[in-house]
Amino acid sequence: MIDPATGKLLVLTPGMGAVATTFIAGVEAVRRGHARPIGSLTQLQGIRLGPRSDNRSPLIRDVLPLSDLQDLVFDGWDIYPDDALQAATRAAVLSREDLQPLSEFLEGIHPMSAAFDKRYVKRLNGSNVKIAANKRELAEALRDDIRNSKERHKASRAVVIWCGSTEIYLEPAACHQTISAFEKGLLENDEAIAPSQLYAYAAIMEDIPYANGAPNLSADIPALEELSSKRNVPLAGKDFKTGQTLMKTVLAPGFKARMLGIDGWFSTNILGNRDGEVLDEPDSFRAKEVTKSNVLHSILQPDLYPDLYAQLYHKVRINYYPPRGDAKESWDNIDIRGWLDYPMQIKVDLLCRDSILAAPIVLDLALFLDLAARAQLSGIQEWLSFYFKSPHVAAGHVAEHDLFIQHIRLKNTLRMLAGEEPVTHLAES
Ligand SMILES: NC(=O)c1ccc[n+]([C@@H]2O[C@H](COP(=O)([O-])OP(=O)(O)OC[C@H]3O[C@@H](n4cnc5c(N)ncnc54)[C@H](O)[C@@H]3O)[C@@H](O)[C@H]2O)c1
Repeated sequence: MIDPATGKLLVLTPGMGAVATTFIAGVEAVRRGHARPIGSLTQLQGIRLGPRSDNRSPLIRDVLPLSDLQDLVFDGWDIYPDDALQAATRAAVLSREDLQPLSEFLEGIHPMSAAFDKRYVKRLNGSNVKIAANKRELAEALRDDIRNSKERHKASRAVVIWCGSTEIYLEPAACHQTISAFEKGLLENDEAIAPSQLYAYAAIMEDIPYANGAPNLSADIPALEELSSKRNVPLAGKDFKTGQTLMKTVLAPGFKARMLGIDGWFSTNILGNRDGEVLDEPDSFRAKEVTKSNVLHSILQPDLYPDLYAQLYHKVRINYYPPRGDAKESWDNIDIRGWLDYPMQIKVDLLCRDSILAAPIVLDLALFLDLAARAQLSGIQEWLSFYFKSPHVAAGHVAEHDLFIQHIRLKNTLRMLAGEEPVTHLAES
C-alpha cells in the first residue's frame, strides 16, 4: 500500500550550483509550458504491463502515485549567498533568454548557510557558512533548517539530494562503523566526518530520504546505512551517471554481449565549470577517479573472461579547461579485438552539457525516493543504481553497472510497486 502524494514535496539540495539550478529552473520552465522534460523517466517514459500481446504501455507517472511537478517546492544550502538566479547565471548552463522569464521565481530562492569546511573541498571559499562548536551542533542546525524550510514552504514531505561539490577522497574510518561511533565522532569533531555526512545524518534523523549525486562517501558508510534502516528512510548514491560513464555503461555491455575483447580504454575530458575547478584538486579528483574506474571491471568480469579482458588497460583523465564552461567534451579511445585476435579501434567524441544531463536525474531521484518513502521502502535503494556511476549497495552485494540490467531492475521494481508482474522478456511474457 503506497500512501498518496498529497501536499507539497520539498526538494532540498545541499549545493546550489550548476546542477541544482539547472534542475530547479528546468522544472519551473516545464511547469509553465516553456520546455520539455527530456531525459526524465518519471515525466516521459512508458512501462509495459502484462504480456506483449496486451499492448498496455501507460506512462510511469500514470501508473504510480508520483508527486506532480506542480507540487514541487525548492530550497537548499550553499557556501555562496547568491540566489538561484545569480547562481544559474554564473553557472551559464541555461541561456539568459531561457532564464529571463523565470527570474522572479529564481530570485526568490536563497540558499541557507552551509555546513562547510575547506579541508574537504580545498578550492572553494565562501562566506555563507555556519559557525558551531562542533559537528554535532552543525548537524542539529541542519535539522533545524530542514524543519523550518518544510514549515516555510508548507510541505508535507521532503527529499535531500546532495548537489554539492566533490569532497576529498576518504576511506571509511572507525567513526563510520556504527551509529554510536558516528554520534560520538560528531561531538568530538572527528576529522573523518565530512560535511556531506552531516547533511545525510540530518536528513535521515528528520526521516527524509537522502541521495548523493557526488562521488564522496557521504551516506555510504555502515553507520548511516544502519540509521536509515532503523528509521525507515530510503537512501541512494553515488555520483550521477551522466556523460562519459553513461556512454561507457552503454557500450561495454554491448562488446561483452558479442564476446569482443578489449585491450585498452583511454578516457579523457575537458570541462571548465566550478565542478571542473574543484576536480582539478588531486584529492577531490581521486574520489571521482575511483567511481569512474570501477565501472568496466564490474561489467566485463575479467575473472570470468580472462582471454578477453584480463589485459584491459583503463585510464581516466579529467582536465580543467575554463573556456568550455559546462559544455564538456570527452574523448574515448577503445582498443578492441575481434575474430582471430585482429585489433580494431573505436573513437567516441561526446560534446555534452554536464548539467543538462544531470538535471533530469535529480528530478527522477526526488520523485522516486519520495515514492519509495511512501511505499515504506527503507535503507539502500539498489533499484535506483540506474542513475549512479558508483551504485551504493548493501554490504556483500555486488554493484550492477550495466545500464540495461539497471534499467530492467528499475522498471521491474516500479511494476512491483504498481502491483503488476515483472517482465522477464521470455517469449510473450
Ligand atoms: N553535472 C554532472 O553531469 C555531474 C555528474 C555527476 C556528478 N556531479 C556532481 O554533482 C555535484 C554538483 O555539480 P555542479 O556542476 O552543480 O557543481 P557546482 O560547483 O556548480 O555546484 C556545487 C555547489 O556546491 C556548493 N558546496 C560545496 N560544498 C558545500 C557544502 N558543504 N554545503 C553546501 N554547499 C556546498 C558549492 O559552493 C557550489 O556552489 C558535484 O559534486 C559533481 O561532481 C555532476
